[in-house]
Amino acid sequence: MEVFVRMIDMLVRLYDLPKSAEMYQNVEDAGIILRRPGAYEKHLVEDFVREHFSPKWVSEVQVAFSRQPITCFIATRNKEILGFACYETTNKAYFGPTGVSEAARGTGIGKALLMKALEGLHNLGYAYGFIGGVGPKEFYAKAVGAVEIPGSDPGIYVDILPEPLF
Ligand SMILES: CC(C)(COP(=O)(O)OP(=O)(O)OC[C@H]1O[C@@H](n2cnc3c(N)ncnc32)[C@H](O)[C@@H]1OP(=O)(O)O)[C@@H](O)C(=O)NCCC(=O)NCCS
Repeated sequence: MEVFVRMIDMLVRLYDLPKSAEMYQNVEDAGIILRRPGAYEKHLVEDFVREHFSPKWVSEVQVAFSRQPITCFIATRNKEILGFACYETTNKAYFGPTGVSEAARGTGIGKALLMKALEGLHNLGYAYGFIGGVGPKEFYAKAVGAVEIPGSDPGIYVDILPEPLF
């Protein structure tokens, strides 16, 4: 039996993002650095995403590294990657993919990375951003007031090639 997962897209008003300074300060106070990865760290970010998430997300990360500035942010602590967030990868004006390692979740890293990436999208000149194929809708609604786009399921995510079975 084929299992269908709902994957709706969401819309974000980039011109009206919540203030982020305090949130970044809280994350920084916990010893976490939020920054763009360097091109020389591409393989390390890919390894993190492959280990914790999926090969398709690795492909999207590779697109982020094909741009300058690199359209990705990472969160690190003690020189270890805890999470990542990309933008302008799946499509123009799209946020994602993003993820935080399970052990580091619930400490504000996901929201801080989301804000960094959405600010990055806004700085590219977009007034609105899309969060493709969500995922944790409540997280996005609560963090940045994202709203569901009617009729966007399955959106662009059709006829996707399956991963090979080894
Ligand atoms: C979604 C994800 C990135 C959130 O990261 P996180 O670091 O745990 O999130 P934060 O700690 O910054 O949470 C920020 C807020 O969102 C809430 N939140 C976090 N995950 C949530 C979820 N799945 N559903 C609803 N609310 C959520 C938190 O409770 C917190 O609320 P608060 O501001 O009132 O305290 C993380 O759970 C993850 O990597 N999930 C797996 C990958 C994934 O689903 N990616 C998104 C694909 S579209």
